[in-house]
Amino acid sequence: MATLANPQLDYSILPDLPADVFTAPLQKPAHVGDDWLEPKQTDYSAEDDRIWDDLFARQMEVLPGRAASAFLAGLEKLDLGRGGVPEFGKLSQELGALTGWSVVPVPMLIPDHVFFWHLANRRFPAGNFIRTRETFDYIQEPDVFHDVFGHVPMLTDPVFADYMQEYGRAGWKAMRYNHLKALGSLYWYTVEFGLIEEAPGTVRAYGAGILSGPTETVFSVEAESPNRIMLNVDRVMRTDYVISDLQPTYFVIESFEDLYRQTVERDFDRLYRSLGPSFTYANTAVIDVDDVLHRGTQEYLLRGGRGSGAKPV
Ligand SMILES: [Fe+2]
Repeated sequence: MATLANPQLDYSILPDLPADVFTAPLQKPAHVGDDWLEPKQTDYSAEDDRIWDDLFARQMEVLPGRAASAFLAGLEKLDLGRGGVPEFGKLSQELGALTGWSVVPVPMLIPDHVFFWHLANRRFPAGNFIRTRETFDYIQEPDVFHDVFGHVPMLTDPVFADYMQEYGRAGWKAMRYNHLKALGSLYWYTVEFGLIEEAPGTVRAYGAGILSGPTETVFSVEAESPNRIMLNVDRVMRTDYVISDLQPTYFVIESFEDLYRQTVERDFDRLYRSLGPSFTYANTAVIDVDDVLHRGTQEYLLRGGRGSGAKPV
């Protein structure tokens, strides 16, 4: 059976990048090494801790009935609402006991191959900084609230935890084929903006991009505007996505086991060889083969989206 993992690769070492592989031109801060890790987590101020607590309280008002059971269970297991920005050492101990993952502090977005390397070794790189009051509602760079509140609860789920590791392993193969964008779409539509059908007609969110903000938590599961389509890995990897606004389309999984199976059993070598240089489907597209749960009106997008005054829900 073909798997995402290439048994020839040693995931304990940071891979060398072939010269023809494109990476984002990020400026590495002088104090971090090749692994891009901070020597230690930042000391947060009392105001930083209050910002965490306020963001936490705001999310807890909208999550019940909208967030996936696995996510809510993870929040509780890790007690992320104990007050203030969580301490990564303690968090890693607790998470490690559950699924063998740890959380490691990084100063900013890090290069793809380093990110994949950490995931392949069950380490989740989390932003060390927290947003300010001025950027309380929206911040494009992932901060510690997005990374820890949004991502870490799902890492307590054993199957999802394995999926994330396989995703990291898959990254290097995608780089060798120069199809990072396609693999990035899979991350986007699952880890960041994924929905799950927990029972017939009951859709919940598990993606960190959704669950770290109140608007999309409601929009993704309740609004008439977006499409909700059952996830098919090939379809998703051919689909464009929007970074700076609510998603026009969400992909829905049956279960985490199904997500894991669909990705690990897919022969990615063959898929990458068949992909063109750009995406096949627009992010609003509904195509013949889609298993559509909800065909969106796209009203939010048609009214101009973010900044236009269009109401999401
Ligand atoms: Fe994220």
